[in-house]
Amino acid sequence: MGGGGREHAIVRALGRSPGAPELLCAPGNPGIAQDARVLDITVSDLEGLVHAARQRRVDLVVVGPEGPLVGGLVDRLKREGIPAFGPTAAAARLEGSKAFAKEVMAAAGVPTGAFSVVRTVEEGLAAIDGRYPAVLKFDGLAAGKGVVLPADEAEARAALEAFLVERRHGPGDVVVEEFLEGEELSLLALCDGERAYPLAPAQDYKRIFDGDRGPNTGGMGSYSPVPAPGAQDPAALAALVHQPVLDELARRGTPFHGVLYAGLMLTADGPKVIEYNARFGDPETQAVLPRLQGDLAQLLLAATRPGGLAEQPPLAFSEDWAVTLVLAGAGYPERSAAGDVITIGELPGGVEVTHAGTARDVDGNLVTAGGRVLNVTALGPTATAARDAAYAAADLITFEGRQLRSDIALRAVE
Ligand code: AMP
Ligand code: GLY
Repeated sequence: MGGGGREHAIVRALGRSPGAPELLCAPGNPGIAQDARVLDITVSDLEGLVHAARQRRVDLVVVGPEGPLVGGLVDRLKREGIPAFGPTAAAARLEGSKAFAKEVMAAAGVPTGAFSVVRTVEEGLAAIDGRYPAVLKFDGLAAGKGVVLPADEAEARAALEAFLVERRHGPGDVVVEEFLEGEELSLLALCDGERAYPLAPAQDYKRIFDGDRGPNTGGMGSYSPVPAPGAQDPAALAALVHQPVLDELARRGTPFHGVLYAGLMLTADGPKVIEYNARFGDPETQAVLPRLQGDLAQLLLAATRPGGLAEQPPLAFSEDWAVTLVLAGAGYPERSAAGDVITIGELPGGVEVTHAGTARDVDGNLVTAGGRVLNVTALGPTATAARDAAYAAADLITFEGRQLRSDIALRAVE
């Protein structure tokens, strides 16, 4: 379920499962339509999704985005007896509420930045107490726009007013957090309610421009694995930041099944959690899943059962590097592109193009329909090979106003 680059990457990976499952995707996109049968149901139509899953007797629903998870889609599917990969609403609160995530981390003893929850602008400024850059997080879903790092008091006041007075993302408090320095790492783990099994580490690029400048985006690229010293032992990291949270949620009677995504800062004092997401990351998934060896469909199905992953073969990843580039439209992230014709040349092997914001026009042309338009993932035996192949493939894709960072995975190469 879903219609972005992440879901296209999931559909592709499920298609590689040895059982060759029949794939349906709601709502999908024109790229997904080449790999699955698409259903015209939006991700907010929970009723429609449950109905379609029942009517078509699907064996497994895989939920891509956070909205329906926090909204309780998995709970509804479970009540219908339909296996669904993803957390229940109660467990998805780890992503839906920053304050809840902090409370669980404290109870579970997971390292994270110091914080306080504030309800007014004055409380917020008092909690920041003159320490800049400050970190302000809206306590609810905000489509990637809920974190602000004000450089001074004027910026902090403006951000607090937007969240708490103008209610830009609806009702919700604000978490004021300690600013953490270090390298960021995305470590996703498959969870079966009892144990967390880490996927290969990845790094994503959140800012629109080279050198991590400009506004935050949904993500402009990613790569996997990650050569940073703190990223060499995913099992140890998962024991530190995933497993205690799983144990805590199980203890509370709300076990976590699905992908637990830990956004980490590798600080001088060790890894600290900056956020949890309750789903696959975008665009990390596009770089991680092509490296996964084994049967994704069976793994995800097993994860819906308590302790089910223990019976599966251990997760294994190819030695290859993967680099994912996001091709965004003109004006992104302020504006979304629409209607510009896309041309894709003859792509070499080892390259996967996934669709994020595309549509078909009345003449059947592939056109832009979103901020992030396409993702290009290339695999290679070295970081340099994967990176060069990704950029060479991106050169074969054109559309009006195309934006592309030129420094994705450069850190890995260097
Ligand atoms: P998020 O939307 O939660 O992924 O946060 C967006 C970005 O804000 C993160 O990827 C980090 O770069 C940055 N960020 C979040 N929390 C902190 C923190 N405590 N210290 C420094 N940077 C942070
Ligand atoms: N790549 C960041 C996210 O998926 O939230």
